[in-house]
Amino acid sequence: MSLPLLEVGDLRIEFGTQAGTVHAVDGVSFSLEQGKALGLAGESGCGKTTTALSLMRLLPYNGKIAGGSIKFQGRDLVKSSEAMLRKIRWKEISIVFQGAMNSLNPVQRVGKQIAEPILLHEDVEEDEAMKRVGDLLELVGIPQKRMNEYPHEFSGGMRQRVMIAMALACNPKLVIADEPVTALDVMIQAQILELLERLRKELHLSMILISHDLSVIADTCDQVAIMYGGKIAESGATMEVFTDPKHPYTQGLVSAFPDIRGRRFMPEAIPGQVPSLISPPSGCVFHPRCKFSFDRCTMAEPALTALTPSRQAACFLFPEVQEVIARKPQAPRAK
Ligand SMILES: Nc1ncnc2c1ncn2[C@@H]1O[C@H](COP(=O)(O)OP(=O)(O)O)[C@@H](O)[C@H]1O
Ligand SMILES: [Mg+2]
Repeated sequence: MSLPLLEVGDLRIEFGTQAGTVHAVDGVSFSLEQGKALGLAGESGCGKTTTALSLMRLLPYNGKIAGGSIKFQGRDLVKSSEAMLRKIRWKEISIVFQGAMNSLNPVQRVGKQIAEPILLHEDVEEDEAMKRVGDLLELVGIPQKRMNEYPHEFSGGMRQRVMIAMALACNPKLVIADEPVTALDVMIQAQILELLERLRKELHLSMILISHDLSVIADTCDQVAIMYGGKIAESGATMEVFTDPKHPYTQGLVSAFPDIRGRRFMPEAIPGQVPSLISPPSGCVFHPRCKFSFDRCTMAEPALTALTPSRQAACFLFPEVQEVIARKPQAPRAK
């Protein structure tokens, strides 16, 4: 079998703050095959964006990779020099940043903004770059002639198309899209997701799609990793995970998004909040919110374990004590 395009191993990322060290990503491992789409899901504050930024080695100034590896085409980006990273960013791996469609430069024509990564990373003249901008706009469903307009002349959906065009400008192999449809209304969300799916197939892209909304991941991704408290709680083939969630956190998320299985029932929120990652709970980071937690969960940390060849979960209920989950749930512990 060929090497995966991306292989992340035991990645740990910390932020230094006055209140203490934030363990934003704490032992995350996953891999991605060429041409496949991986979803990163989970509530806000669980480390999705931090994971994404680290893949480009673009962490905020107070963030650092405290351990682990990010192997892209076999090369460990954690150990790569800044010169090497410059060759990889945008040309091999690109990102549609969370919220970026609202931070386009308001006083610069959109075409010029799309041309920026091309001019910065490739040895081409401006005429050639602008010709490529025209092609990129057509590719994302915007007529070429609109390249001379300003961001305020574009709707939200069009601005997100511009961001996608920018991410594709240097023909990357892997595109990371961080909450790419979160700020858009539902009809436009569907159009942007369709666009991403079409581009992925046409251009044989690999994609990491980040969303707190499971239905977005269900529509687009082959594989999903559910993040909680800076760790992966469960991962596997998307439909398998969403139709038969194993980890109590995934079960909670699925219950909070009832449409995913096409049935109608009242959504049920997970009680409590995501933990502070400065002093996360002992043992399993999810135990204070878990209906099924027992003593061991408060003391030891469950490792991500293969339940089947296509499914991993980090929960003491699996695989040994699976029958416990069928027991009557206990009241959640103190929050
Ligand atoms: N620059 C930063 N400084 C300190 N803490 C941060 C910084 N960026 C993110 N965090 C913290 O890291 C954790 C993970 O955040 P993030 O990766 O943005 O989560 P998500 O994308 O899943 O919402 C959160 O606890 C967040 O408050
Ligand atoms: Mg985020």
